[in-house]
Amino acid sequence: MGKIITVASHKGGVGKTTTTLNAGYSLSRFGQKVLIIDSDPQGGMTIASNLKRRTDKGLVQLLKNEIKPEQAVIPTKDKQMAFLGSGVTEPEDVFLFDREARKGTLGKLITSVSEKFDYTFIDAPAGLGAIVTSLLSVSNSVLVPVGCSSIAVRTLPLFLKLIRKIRAKFNNNLMLEGVLMTLVDENSASCAEVFDEVRNSFPSNVLFDSYIPYDEAFERAGIKSVPAAMLKGATEAAQAYMDLAIELKNREMQADRKEKDDDEGLF
Ligand SMILES: Nc1ncnc2c1ncn2[C@@H]1O[C@H](COP(=O)(O)OP(=O)(O)O)[C@@H](O)[C@H]1O
Ligand SMILES: [Mg+2]
Repeated sequence: MGKIITVASHKGGVGKTTTTLNAGYSLSRFGQKVLIIDSDPQGGMTIASNLKRRTDKGLVQLLKNEIKPEQAVIPTKDKQMAFLGSGVTEPEDVFLFDREARKGTLGKLITSVSEKFDYTFIDAPAGLGAIVTSLLSVSNSVLVPVGCSSIAVRTLPLFLKLIRKIRAKFNNNLMLEGVLMTLVDENSASCAEVFDEVRNSFPSNVLFDSYIPYDEAFERAGIKSVPAAMLKGATEAAQAYMDLAIELKNREMQADRKEKDDDEGLF
């Protein structure tokens, strides 16, 4: 069974979609099989230009049992990564999403399509509505991108508290993968202040050491829905997410080791 990571935040425009795509791609560079799922009806990832074939079919059509997973899970040109779109094309599709999320069908579908992959990264809609709650109910962890602004950071503790409540109610196994600072403008004094505050408020096992700088390369890559690493002249942008992937792997290895130590302690 692979690991399901939902990328969620209380705000829009903080780099959820960018993080899903770029962190997923970076992990796939380690030879891991990665599935990217766009569960945001407004996500717009469906236009991804590195797909082997085009389709507007996705979660919606799978939920309606109109198609089989093989028809909606599209390999990308580099084989290690595949993509499953939201399939939202009509306003009523959004209601269907919400309804199936409440029934638990969306969660079951995600669990089943993710089985063949080492990692499934899910781009979630902003906030904690029915869709996000159902995703978190079947996820191993949640990764929370936070834009480098005082308003984003001020509302973060409440968001984390609500996630803990979802954990308690629906999924005891849900872990906090980590908080990721995004849109970090290294020339901005206010961002530096906010970042310091975050570093002082969150322990290092919560806040990733890696952070994502503000870089217009992400904008260019975002238009094509490709990872920054696939663009020319985007080395620094791509490296930031590669660093994050390395940190994710390191954290996993440390957690594994701790588990083993704990086991040994039992004998
Ligand atoms: N680190 C970054 N630097 C510059 N622009 C970014 C960065 N991350 C994301 N963006 C751009 O900001 C906008 C919002 O990012 P997106 O990932 O779509 O956020 P969300 O999914 O949280 O709404 C997009 O146009 C994206 O290309
Ligand atoms: Mg988005």
